[in-house]
Amino acid sequence: MSKQALLQPYQSNNLDLKNRVVMAPMTRSRANNPEKKPTEDLQGLYYQQRASAGLIISEGSQVSEEAVGYINTPGIHSKEQVEGWKLVTDKVHNEGGKIFIQLWHVGRMSHPDFHNGDLPLAPSPINPNAQSYTPEGFKDTVAPKEMTKEDILRTINDFKQAAKNAMEAGFDGVEIHSSNGYLFHQFFNATSNTRIDEYGGSIENRARFFFEVLDAIKEVMPEQKIGARFNPSLNGVFGMTMDEETIPTFEYIIKKLNDYDLAYIHLSEPFTDVSDISYAVTEIAKHFRPLYNGTLIINSNFDQEKGNQVIENGDADLVAYGKPFISNPDLVERFANNLELTEWNQDTFYTPGKEGYTDYPKISKLAAS
Ligand SMILES: Cc1cc2nc3c(=O)[nH]c(=O)nc-3n(C[C@H](O)[C@H](O)[C@H](O)COP(=O)(O)O)c2cc1C
Repeated sequence: MSKQALLQPYQSNNLDLKNRVVMAPMTRSRANNPEKKPTEDLQGLYYQQRASAGLIISEGSQVSEEAVGYINTPGIHSKEQVEGWKLVTDKVHNEGGKIFIQLWHVGRMSHPDFHNGDLPLAPSPINPNAQSYTPEGFKDTVAPKEMTKEDILRTINDFKQAAKNAMEAGFDGVEIHSSNGYLFHQFFNATSNTRIDEYGGSIENRARFFFEVLDAIKEVMPEQKIGARFNPSLNGVFGMTMDEETIPTFEYIIKKLNDYDLAYIHLSEPFTDVSDISYAVTEIAKHFRPLYNGTLIINSNFDQEKGNQVIENGDADLVAYGKPFISNPDLVERFANNLELTEWNQDTFYTPGKEGYTDYPKISKLAAS
């Protein structure tokens, strides 16, 4: 039996995984059909090929039409989409894999082109000054519409319905995408949330929307199957700017999550160098591990060695790999045999069809060719 920490099974009260290698959620923009649904030959095959991961977290999947912000991303709000996802979860389960779906609302990172000219929704009308990937290519983002109470209640309900749909589609759980500058993150951060009602101002208020969504989802599925993703030191990307209250906000949220019995929390190490920002945390797993009692997944820029180390050090339970899984469907097997990894091709991250998607061979195929 392999001695690598990454390859040990993982068991908690809520998760039972064959290894500790998680496939990170990755948008691949292959749902280029009118229903924005996953299909058996594309998403089905792609996730099936990667089912030796201890856990797959799907690409971000919009919870409503309003939630969308990138072309050709799949949804989890219509009957056709649920039927499409059923084909995917079946294939993963037939291979002995497990798969959560990432529930997504991009908020102000969207563009009016996705909403018949209407403004995207966000906590406050502050332009992230970023770029949105629209059907006509990259466009500058706009100042979004400040969500009314009614918008907030409807969105909470959209997440609840999406979680219900996810259970119907056969997912093993859901991950709330409260990361990377999207809607929840926009509420958390004081630079994107200047509201003066109960959803803005204090840390507790800025976290309120997230917890209301979590509580709503709990009504339709076991909380033991819910995960949440955070990127506490995200700065200068996806329109996010840190300030003095950013890390205390995430500390508050993550500590409060100890009152729940979630499947896991999923954290990212900083996406950019934040060593010169005095109020940023440069080592996320190390900082947050002592604050959270449940399962902690860590991500971003890990290789095999660093992944084994972070588990051995006790700073995380599971490690999520993104880009390495794009080009190495059998990443677990490669780790197990200390085999070299295939480099990913960035040009085909978001292009339609199977190229750069389902055509990366397993190492056994490579050796035979
Ligand atoms: C093509 C691509 C698409 C991504 N889409 C998502 C997404 O839908 N949801 C999400 O939370 N993160 C997304 N990410 C971020 C990854 O989950 C991960 O955090 C990032 O790639 C860093 O991990 P890595 O160094 O192992 O690739 C995406 C990353 C890539 C490269």
